[in-house]
Amino acid sequence: MTKQQTLVLIKPDGMAKFLTGNIITELADTGLILVGSKVVQVTRELAEEHYQHLRDEKFFSELIDYIMGEFHVKRVLALVYQGDNAIEKVRHVVGSTDPEKAEPTSIRGKFGRITKEGVFENVVHASENEKESEREIKLWFRPKELVRTIFPTESKEVKKVEYFWKS
Ligand code: TYD
Repeated sequence: MTKQQTLVLIKPDGMAKFLTGNIITELADTGLILVGSKVVQVTRELAEEHYQHLRDEKFFSELIDYIMGEFHVKRVLALVYQGDNAIEKVRHVVGSTDPEKAEPTSIRGKFGRITKEGVFENVVHASENEKESEREIKLWFRPKELVRTIFPTESKEVKKVEYFWKS
């Protein structure tokens, strides 16, 4: 058994359909613990970096528009789950990439669809393997945003501007 962390994104179609509660409930059945969460407005830069391995696919440009929220709402919920075999456990409840082929009881099987343009609107993203989960968690989160980290961290002194509520 290996302790892993995995990134889950509730994509803009999941947000537009108010499925966050349903999805988090399904993920709770894995027994994994939630160690980070935030709502993100996805920039083109983040979208292209996240899906860099699919750069040459013919659906890449639609995929980028989709994750940026061009077809739904401009929000995704990013979550990090931790526990033994977290990656496989989450992929199991999430289901196959193609919502038509996903188990009907999986998240994608229940809530996903394929558009007439052929984009898989499959509601959630879940990291595929350990290499990807590390890359993705480091792309989407700062160490301070997670209540537990499994990857080494270091402190650096930085000069920065912070925003506060106006008094
Ligand atoms: P991929 O990383 O292969 O799958 P997964 O999300 O299950 O790890 O693909 C990323 C996303 O690209 C996928 O969730 C939906 C989209 N996609 C399509 O729209 N059409 C396709 O034929 C494939 C393979 C993926």
